Amino acid sequence: MKKKLLALLMGTSLVLAACGGNDEAEEPKEGTETTTADAGEEAKLFNNKCSSCHGQNLEGGVGPALNKIGADLSQADIEKVIHEGKGAMPPGLLEGEEATKVASWLAAKK
Ligand code: HEC
Repeated sequence: MKKKLLALLMGTSLVLAACGGNDEAEEPKEGTETTTADAGEEAKLFNNKCSSCHGQNLEGGVGPALNKIGADLSQADIEKVIHEGKGAMPPGLLEGEEATKVASWLAAKK
């Protein structure tokens, strides 16, 4: 009798733990579905993934300045750099829609 109860309790806490874990894993992904003000999203992604090398204001740093990158590169070119990397820049920093968004945002900087 006692053993059964214990097993039941352990079972329940396992299930609870599993659920809790799932919730936590999904939460940090804000920005994908939580519609934060659309305009700032690209800048936010850039600040998270790119500004350490290209500067908070696109002024450059380890990487070249990107504040007039749209004059040299198209959105497709920039997206390619994001996917494939370039020189010291690691590939795949952003993926899918996020890469496209940031690329078009940068392509508009002329
Ligand atoms: C680890 C540092 C680093 C990070 C992080 C980084 N870059 Fe770069 N990036 C570089 C370097 C260095 C170059 C120059 C590569 C070369 O020309 O050899 C570069 C080049 C580029 C270029 C091409 C510039 C040109 O004139 O051809 C673009 C566009 C670019 N980065 C965009 C991004 C974006 C968008 C992100 C964020 C998703 C990012 N970079 C993150 C280091 C970085």
